[in-house]
Amino acid sequence: MADIKTGKPILDVLDGRTATRTPIWLMRQAGRYLPEYRATRAQARDFLDLCYSPDLATEVTLQPLRRYDLDAAILFADILLIPQALGQNLKFVEGEGPRLEPVKDATDLDRLRLDGCADHLAPVMETVRRLSQALPAHVALIGFAGAPWTVATYMVAGQGTDDQGPARMMAYRQPELFGKLIDLLVQATADYLLAQVKAGAEIIQIFDTWAGSLPQAEFDKWVIAPTRKLVALLRQGAPGIPVIGFARGAGMGHGIYAKTTGVDAISVETQMAPSAMADLAGQGIAVQGNIDPLALVAGGPCLDHAVDELLGAMKGHRHILNLGHGIVPQTSPDHVSQLIDRARKFEA
Ligand code: CP3
Repeated sequence: MADIKTGKPILDVLDGRTATRTPIWLMRQAGRYLPEYRATRAQARDFLDLCYSPDLATEVTLQPLRRYDLDAAILFADILLIPQALGQNLKFVEGEGPRLEPVKDATDLDRLRLDGCADHLAPVMETVRRLSQALPAHVALIGFAGAPWTVATYMVAGQGTDDQGPARMMAYRQPELFGKLIDLLVQATADYLLAQVKAGAEIIQIFDTWAGSLPQAEFDKWVIAPTRKLVALLRQGAPGIPVIGFARGAGMGHGIYAKTTGVDAISVETQMAPSAMADLAGQGIAVQGNIDPLALVAGGPCLDHAVDELLGAMKGHRHILNLGHGIVPQTSPDHVSQLIDRARKFEA
């Protein structure tokens, strides 16, 4: 491949070119740890109103870029917009998280409809269009969705759970019904992501936050197979769009996930050793991650050390510096500056 730089380091890494620097962005880089986010959030009726307001969603997406030298912006939205677009009732309870009317049986599943999705999600596409006009030249725009498995865990339980028990039980007891739900999500998610690409998203990240809760055979069925179908649909509709897969907690499963789903890069959890990340990168896959979000809360020497160790191990490999999961609300914005400064100094 010709080594012509795009001017966007993150696209260079994803496409297999040598980047001018290690690209950096952080999951949940827009969020409650920023006072300006809290101020904008207070202007919205609730969290969902923020997601569906192109003015406010564009604003909060851009906020971290005004403070920090980041290489990507991620669309501000949520993985649970798809269940809502399919017709499932959704609300966010202040301080508690999402609540949905659980999908328990075939009758509940039959009520969900693909035909209304595009209209329902149109405001998100307006946000993407505005962002793609507003970003500085070296910053890439990441669109995203939840993976079918992770979204299904919320749809079946009706809320977040510690062990994703309800969805795991449905997958064991009613595999046919659960398979239909997953198939519906593959289609809805492909349509949604292709619309994001058409509106200007340059990279797609698939969040499979709960991939780690499944034993291997179930992981193959509900994480790998649907992700492979989803990526194939994306390749059909948008050839060349880079895809990052975040099968959080996959551990030893990341290698097979990387090789069989067709993603261009994997994002890995904090628990993976930098040497294991380098091994995976050595097999030709770009790897994103994986500073501990709590090391970011702590700051100080432990954060410096984590950054140096990771960048030392990933030197010469295709690496996107990120956390192993999202920024938590109690993070000091200064520690985000510290992380980025330290990484830039490491390479200087
Ligand atoms: O990364 C980003 O900056 C982009 C925005 C983004 C949000 N959610 C905003 C958000 C992204 C990529 C997500 C993905 C998401 N949403 C996931 C997968 C990634 C992950 O973090 O594991 C999941 C599981 C959800 C579902 C969800 N959304 C839950 C369980 C909650 C409640 C927990 C919480 O942190 O309050 C949300 C709410 C949410 N999504 C917030 C933000 C900024 C906080 C809402 C607020 O402002 O009150």
